[in-house]
Formats: sequence, structure tokens, C-alpha cells
Amino acid sequence: MLWQGLISNYQNYLPVNEKTPRLTLMEGNTPLIPLEKLSDQWGAEIHVKYEGLNPTGSFKDRGMVLAVAKAKESGSQGVICASTGNTAASAAAYSARANLDCLIVIPKGKIALGKLAQAVMYGAKIYEIDGNFDDALKMVRYTAKHSSYTLVNSVNPYRLEGQKTAAFEVCEQLGGAPDILAIPVGNAGNISAYWKGFKELHARNKTSLPQMRGFEAEGSAAIVKNKIIEQPETIATAIRIGNPASWELAVEAEKDSKGKIDSVTDEEILAAYKTLAKEEGVFAEPASCASLAGIKKQLKTGEIKKGAKIVAVLTGNGLKDPTTAMDTLNVQPVLLKAEENQLLDALGEGVSK
Ligand code: F0G
Repeated sequence: MLWQGLISNYQNYLPVNEKTPRLTLMEGNTPLIPLEKLSDQWGAEIHVKYEGLNPTGSFKDRGMVLAVAKAKESGSQGVICASTGNTAASAAAYSARANLDCLIVIPKGKIALGKLAQAVMYGAKIYEIDGNFDDALKMVRYTAKHSSYTLVNSVNPYRLEGQKTAAFEVCEQLGGAPDILAIPVGNAGNISAYWKGFKELHARNKTSLPQMRGFEAEGSAAIVKNKIIEQPETIATAIRIGNPASWELAVEAEKDSKGKIDSVTDEEILAAYKTLAKEEGVFAEPASCASLAGIKKQLKTGEIKKGAKIVAVLTGNGLKDPTTAMDTLNVQPVLLKAEENQLLDALGEGVSK
């Protein structure tokens, strides 16, 4: 059947009714890509769920389409969110489509360029603060409580409802649940949403349940260290969060699934980021690659058994953050004169005809 977007496709699994607008940018239905080379090299069966191919380039669209549709259904004036970038881009796009106002609060200087460009283009009202995501979240929670704007951060239950659909797709694409589901952890909404999705599908269809393995960046690993990080830091700005809102739900997913929430260093994240693009032709933003970095780490320590069937969630598209890409590799194109012979001359010896 032709894909009609997330709400229409999963209406029997979502809290929607005939009054809920069928808002869509045709989100969802993203590919599950096998990583052939890395599976060979690392000794496991590794697939990536490439959420960067959603309409605004991240997994946020799954939750946002439902949160904005429900805000519209309830007659809200507009939506409001704090963001490290992707939530803002997604909220801005869906509220533009639904004719709602969109207010976003972001940490100044810590948002990848592409994400900011999206929010600008979709017409959101943008507020920057000299503070981090956790400060911004406090501000929008307060504002939502005292105004008619609907909060669309992942503390809005419709966000997790929409995002759980990715677990349904993984099971359908793989013909069952994987042994391991590896996922980056920031505000901890997505790991909670996947676990909800796997459990619901298992209750209906006996699809079995994966171990949930979440990965924070070491400089903002609040759950791993079991304490709020006042000054979170990481190159993976999307998960630069020191006090995750869905902390308890994430720990529940970890415990119930017999999984683990662990951390990876910025070096490990960047290594996975480069390897994924160069070896497999998949470009995902740095935070996304925490999942892959985590798999590599735990296959090495033996915490993940060789041969395991693993799905790593790649939460956002690499194009979101051109600055990190260029800074990481620092490759300059070779300058040539615009003459016919110049390229062949530059290639020099060793070019076969
Ligand atoms: N990966 C990317 C690319 C993200 O943008 C985020 C969160 C995460 C992973 C972590 O997901 O918060 O559900 O644990 N970004 C939020 C934002 C915080 O504002 O865009 P989580």
C-alpha cells in the first residue's frame, strides 16, 4: 500500500480519533540498512535504522507530527520547545504546515548550522539563551504552564507515542526484533519510546524483545554517572544534556530489557562518524554515531556477543552539521585551472587507460 505518513499508517496503534488532523510530511518508513563491511570487521550482524531520511532529517518528525496534530486538534494557539536543534527544526516544519505559531528556545552557539537554518526557513520565532538545553527546557515548561502554547518536547506524551513506531518498522523490516537495539541518549525520550514500541508489538504479535543499549556522550553522561551534570559538554551537540527529562523511563527500559546505558567519548563518536561515512556511504550526524560507537566498544569488551543481530539507530542526517564534518577531516579540494588537460595531469602516473 502507498505510504500515507505516520498517523494514517499507524492509526490503530496511536491515540488518534476522527477529529485528529491527518497532518503529514510523509514521515516514517525509513530504511534499515545492513552494514556489510562493518559487520564483517566487527563480527556481528549490524543494521542501521536511518532516521536521518525523515522529512526534516531526524527521528523527531515521528513524534512531532503527532504532538502538533494533537495541539491543533485541541485548538492550541501554537507550540513551544527547548532544543539542541532537531526538535526545533521539526516543530517549526510541522507547525508551519498546521498553521500554528512556533516558539523555540536554544542554547546560543551550540546548535548545528543546518538545524538553525531549518528553523529560520520554516518561520519559527527563535530565542537564544546563554545557558544550556536543561535551562531552556525549564524556561519552556514554565512558559507552557502559564500560557496557551503547547509544549512539544518529549515530556509531551504524544511525542513518545509517535516515536514508538520506529520499533514497529524495525521488527517489520528485520522479520522480528533484533538481539540488541543501540541508540544515542540525550533527553532519554527516544530510548523510552522504542522500548514502549517493542513491548506493545510483543504483546500483540509475540515479536520478542531486544536488549536496549543506550549511549550518552561521556561529557554529559548523567544517567551513567547517576548525577545531574551542570555543565554538559560534547562535540555531539544534539545530546549535550545534563539532566534528561525521561531519566526514569530510560532506566526502566535498561532494567526491563536487561540492557545497559553506557557512555562513549567524543573520540569514539568521531571515529564511528568517519568510519560510517567512509566505509558504508552513510552520513549521520555526530550524536547519531554514539550508537555505533557504543556497539564497537561493547563488542570489544565482550558485553555484546559476537554474531549478535544488532540495530543501531542513526537519529539524524549528517548534512545537519556541515561544520563538524569539515572541521573533522579538514580536507581542502585541489584547485585546478579550468582547462581540459588539467585533471589528467594532476592525476599523474599510475592512472590506467
Ligand atoms: N540524536 C539526535 C540527532 C538528537 O537530536 C537527539 C535529541 C538525540 C539523539 C537524543 O534523543 O533526547 O530522545 O534521548 N535531540 C533533542 C533536540 C534534545 O532538541 O533536538 P533523546
